[in-house]
Amino acid sequence: MNFTCPSINNPQIDTSSAVIQVFGNTLAFKKYRALWDQMYAEKRISKEELDKVYNTFLPLYEHADKTMLTADAMVDSSLAAMQLMLIARAHGYETNAMTGYDAKKAASVMGLDPEQYVPVMGIALGKPNKNVEELKSVRYPVDEVLKFE
Ligand SMILES: Cc1cc2nc3c(=O)[nH]c(=O)nc-3n(C[C@H](O)[C@H](O)[C@H](O)COP(=O)(O)O)c2cc1C
Repeated sequence: MNFTCPSINNPQIDTSSAVIQVFGNTLAFKKYRALWDQMYAEKRISKEELDKVYNTFLPLYEHADKTMLTADAMVDSSLAAMQLMLIARAHGYETNAMTGYDAKKAASVMGLDPEQYVPVMGIALGKPNKNVEELKSVRYPVDEVLKFE
């Protein structure tokens, strides 16, 4: 990939087994209607529930502006990225999330339409090197990042 930030991310890219670049699809909603139709066809939801989706949820996306579709794509893809990282660890791999790259170039370098696909993060993935001592990172105190009301 020639859109990464060389100084901070070369070690990860050079030593990992794979680097996955996660993008969000701002036009993902175009498949939602077919998905809900399938839910109805397979009797997973009633006609009443389908109509409700047609009149509430679907128009929300079909009339949404680019800002909302971009934010939504980022949320969806971040969840997928996190899930991938957790599954990787469960299988004995380690990952490193990376946003230190040229986000403006990411989609076109990968042959994707930059108007449709927003870069979310790179994920370096590989087996941890047992000969290198693991960095023991710190965490913010819980009360600094979590608020109950
Ligand atoms: C969204 C995001 C982007 C990040 N971008 C980079 C990056 O470009 N390069 C990098 O070395 N670390 C980056 N990091 C930090 C590492 O992925 C990782 O969080 C760090 O190594 C500490 O992980 P740990 O505290 O779980 O051990 C990023 C982290 C997040 C959450």
